[in-house]
Amino acid sequence: MSIRNMILLGPPGAGKGTQAVHLVEEFGLLHLSTGDMLRGAVEAHTNLGLQAKCFMDAGDLVPDELVIGIIRDRLGGADVRDLGVLLDGFPRTLVQAEALAGVISQLRLGELIVINIAVPDELLIRRLSGRRMCDTCSEIFHIDRDGVDVGDPCPTCTTGKIYQRSDDQVEAIAERLRNYHAKTAPLIKYYSERDMLISIDGSGTPDEVHRRVMAHLELGA
Ligand code: AP5
Repeated sequence: MSIRNMILLGPPGAGKGTQAVHLVEEFGLLHLSTGDMLRGAVEAHTNLGLQAKCFMDAGDLVPDELVIGIIRDRLGGADVRDLGVLLDGFPRTLVQAEALAGVISQLRLGELIVINIAVPDELLIRRLSGRRMCDTCSEIFHIDRDGVDVGDPCPTCTTGKIYQRSDDQVEAIAERLRNYHAKTAPLIKYYSERDMLISIDGSGTPDEVHRRVMAHLELGA
């Protein structure tokens, strides 16, 4: 199956970032994560970053017009047309989904498949509260599985330091889950009605989930 463009949909902690790493390798797609783009803007103290930071720290969604603006600009790049794109964390509202449909059609970017990774809330809370990241190579870890914690050197790139995302605190996680159920979960119906949705059980190990995704894409794993 040749894949042009893909959306990874799912609640916070579903494993979108974890699965994206394998899928972009497998299909040669460009990985665009709105979360990573926004965190980069916060880090660089850009105007966008300054506007986004308070929403992100509180676990709220950044306003649609800001996120749609950065995605619209990025999708216009020649690399997106050449490689195809994997969107991780976008769209997250019906307004964003409609805007994306318009941009894809206007830029003639081709077909879009939506993979929804479903995981129960209790498991999401465990995954998010134990997530740790490398500040240099951005590798994603979990304290239970990988035995790393804040301040440790990154076992992958060895130069980076392990940190915890500011929105992985208990209150922010609860708010992110509330926002997911109210604003993002309706996209499952939206894409299902348009016959674009593949739903995957996101419990089990990252490898098991990856194999399920590949099996659904009829490629085998
Ligand atoms: P974003 O960075 O997109 O965060 P998110 O959607 O909340 O998703 P996460 O990155 O938290 O989780 P993930 O599904 O990628 O899971 P991961 O693979 O890391 O967005 C952050 C913020 O930016 C938002 O809250 C919002 O403010 C803003 N934003 C972004 N996009 C926006 C948009 N479109 N509109 C408005 N605002 C936007 O895995 C999590 C943990 O679980 C890791 O420790 C991992 O190792 C572990 N894990 C993963 N898979 C498994 C598995 N199968 N088994 C065991 N452990 C696993």
